[in-house]
Amino acid sequence: MIRSLRGMNDILSEDYERFEYFIKTASEVARRYGFHYIETPLLEETALFKRSVGESSDIVGKEMYQFNDKGGNDVCLRPEGTAGVVRAFVQNKLDRKGGIHRFFYHGPMFRYERPQKGRLREFHQFGVESFGVASVYEDASLIMMISDIFKALGIGYTLQLNSLGDQNCMPQYRESLVEFLDLHVSEICNDCKRRKETNPIRVLDCKNEACQNLYKEAPKLFTSLCESCKSDFDTLLKLLDANAIAYEIDTHLVRGLDYYSKTAFEFVSTEIGAQSAIAGGGRYDRLVEFLDGKETPAIGFAIGIERLLELIVMPQKEREGYYFGAMDAEALETIIKAGQAKRSTDTVIIEYTPKSLKAHLKGADRVNARYCAVIGENELKDAKIWVKDLQESKEETLSLTQFKK
Ligand code: HAM
Repeated sequence: MIRSLRGMNDILSEDYERFEYFIKTASEVARRYGFHYIETPLLEETALFKRSVGESSDIVGKEMYQFNDKGGNDVCLRPEGTAGVVRAFVQNKLDRKGGIHRFFYHGPMFRYERPQKGRLREFHQFGVESFGVASVYEDASLIMMISDIFKALGIGYTLQLNSLGDQNCMPQYRESLVEFLDLHVSEICNDCKRRKETNPIRVLDCKNEACQNLYKEAPKLFTSLCESCKSDFDTLLKLLDANAIAYEIDTHLVRGLDYYSKTAFEFVSTEIGAQSAIAGGGRYDRLVEFLDGKETPAIGFAIGIERLLELIVMPQKEREGYYFGAMDAEALETIIKAGQAKRSTDTVIIEYTPKSLKAHLKGADRVNARYCAVIGENELKDAKIWVKDLQESKEETLSLTQFKK
């Protein structure tokens, strides 16, 4: 039997209802914050991700679905959404236009990771990217937007925050960190030895316990921030306090993608096991420029949809539409016609096998229909139809002409 690839799942209808409900809720919130939908291709040039997410990141270094297409182009399935949106922003010359551009998107992302609960090779993200606002008010606004989305879905979370500094303070910090790593090089894991050469701050994110203990003594990025980064971060905290958004400062939060500067954040849930990050994002004020656009401040985030599904509190499902059934074969043609007439406005399920009234009522209940409409021998003779409103528990027999109105 041919099976789906490891870490790639089908989304069957029950899960899809949650999925759809999430997208609908999150899109509504995004629109309320002035964001507009954008769709970018699943396949992009590999160079796009190398230049943005970064060659030293696990995503680009180990996890890309990369291949040469039939024309010999080096392409890959997108591992995340930001790079594609920035490419579209630059390619469509929106950077030259100036002003503020806010986008949201959702769709599949691909990472060749080791699959486990909450970690897939094909997974779905809902993300937003905002271009043209340097003010930290936008950072607070995006965090409040995620909080609004989670509130609407009944999802609890912890928000972790950090500032990664900018081109003024980050290089100095990196130097002091490398000095520290050089002094302790015999104590750090091989991955960290590699990170020391490629992107030293990534060591702070290492999961190795010995490394983690050692880095407690490492110079703190947070205390090395320049005046402007520090003042922005303080303002952000004040804005969050004023809006009753609780947070924890995590000075080791560096995120797994290279494009961030200044604000970085993650939302985690304690209810879903080891893969606890349900959303992540931050500022990337240099990325538009790195991708050959005009320098433009930007910030965004993405929510991992699969990790949330089990946490979503769904609203009570309302009964909906019609179920049609005949009690005799002779009534089938009439019932199909009556059902078809309702399809222009309602969801209609037609049962093609003649059955008893009791069996039809059960069938209507199974598909969660609001109305069960049945034609038996007597109704057929009198050109009538029996209809029960399953929500109100009321029944009546109507003439077919009356029913069609
Ligand atoms: P990210 O932290 O790599 O950020 O991914 C965002 C979210 O996607 C994670 O918090 C997690 O919920 C979900 N996720 C990531 N990998 C997997 C996986 N293998 N299986 C299931 N869920 C996963 C980004 O992708 C950035 N583009 C976010 C961003 C947008 N930053 C600025 N703008």
